[in-house]
Amino acid sequence: MPASTLTITDNRTGKTFEIPIQDDTIRAVDLRQIKENPSDFGLMTYDPAYMNTASCKSTITFIDGDVGILNYRGYPIEQLAEDGSYLETAYLLWHGELPTAAQMEEFTASINANLNLPDSFDHFYDGFGRDAHPMSMLMAGYAGLASIYTDAKKVLDAENRKKQIFRGIAQSMTLGAYGYRFRKNLPFIKPDPKLSFAGNFLNMLFGKEADPRLVQAIDILFILHADHEQNCSTSTMRLVGSSQADPFSSLAAAAAALYGPLHGGANEAVLKMLRQIGSVDNIPGFIEKVKAGEGRLMGFGHRVYKNYDPRARIIKKAAEDVFEVTGKNPLLDVATELERIALHDEYFIKRKLYPNVDFYSGLIYEALGFPAEMFTVLFAIPRASGWLSQWEELMRDEDQKIGRPRQIYLGEGKRDYVPVANRK
Ligand code: CMC
Repeated sequence: MPASTLTITDNRTGKTFEIPIQDDTIRAVDLRQIKENPSDFGLMTYDPAYMNTASCKSTITFIDGDVGILNYRGYPIEQLAEDGSYLETAYLLWHGELPTAAQMEEFTASINANLNLPDSFDHFYDGFGRDAHPMSMLMAGYAGLASIYTDAKKVLDAENRKKQIFRGIAQSMTLGAYGYRFRKNLPFIKPDPKLSFAGNFLNMLFGKEADPRLVQAIDILFILHADHEQNCSTSTMRLVGSSQADPFSSLAAAAAALYGPLHGGANEAVLKMLRQIGSVDNIPGFIEKVKAGEGRLMGFGHRVYKNYDPRARIIKKAAEDVFEVTGKNPLLDVATELERIALHDEYFIKRKLYPNVDFYSGLIYEALGFPAEMFTVLFAIPRASGWLSQWEELMRDEDQKIGRPRQIYLGEGKRDYVPVANRK
């Protein structure tokens, strides 16, 4: 059997090195032995944006971007969306197995017992303007929880982490709902443990029990958004967590990463783009601008998927169910025609750009009555379960240490300080 190694010849020195290969990967530190001179630092890899660097070993989420496959703990996303629930998915991500009926009952009870924010949060929102972005409030909310749940600092204590994970999954939803109510200058509605997680959320937002079809649609969207392996915000969660910061501080950082328009902020950007295009007639002109480099087709393209994002397909179907209740979002025609034209255009075909999770989700959210600013919060609420599951995996991983990338220094060599009077 051929050896599972990589042989490298350094042509600077003529020396040969044999590097072990495990899981189709070599360890970057194994390259450090490759030096031109004994005093050299040794070879590094240069990988801006982590295009080809595995930062961890994980057993949570599997993506095959070329084929368009997404599995949580081995279960296809399509099956979870069809037959599962969000809380069951959160349990699965965290514990690695689907819960038994008794485990699910206990898990649901623990989530429900943790839905209420600490009492001091009643005044937390007073410092914000009514036009504050809900993502700013969510980030601040996580940081606020860090200041109250000081026991969360005991990150090396597994029992303690469990307590914080329940709080984090449950209160992400309450923070989202309260941010919405505050912006509308409406009184907060306390969670009702008799309702499902998604049902409770809609009730806390709109003050009435929602149509079960809409509850189901939100639950599906929560399942689809719950995890997506080492994306920008999850990597942020892990990087901040690697310093042994408490999980609420890490959640604040992860939410900040999600907020950007190239990540979870894309759903808000899609809606703005669709409104700007306005009608089907304006699509060809818009596409030409994108191809000329004037802006991007938001909700299209993905670092990992070079095929149709499986989540986008499920969302498109869920949108039809929602529109049956709410009436069709008039921007749907613009979106479907935009997709049709883009999928037949050489520019998008060549670059393997397909609709991603954010392309259709905003249309559902808008039909449900959410303002565009809330869309990324709707992404963050379920993603909290993924962030926290990934954080738990990190804390148990003996390979991990504080995250600390290297750099290639290309600046000035040593030079002497020049007093201001002598500077040109
Ligand atoms: N519209 C037009 N051109 C695009 C787009 C787009 N949406 N996305 C990528 N390209 C082009 C890009 O200009 C480049 O072309 P060229 O080779 O001629 O320079 C090529 O495709 C490769 O793009 P890239 O920026 O190197 O790809 P990336 O892997 O770094 O970026 C992405 C991935 C998701 C940031 C990018 O596709 C994008 O900006 N999409 C729009 C924003 C969006 O929808 N984000 C949501 C991602 S899914 C949800 C989530 O995970 O948060």
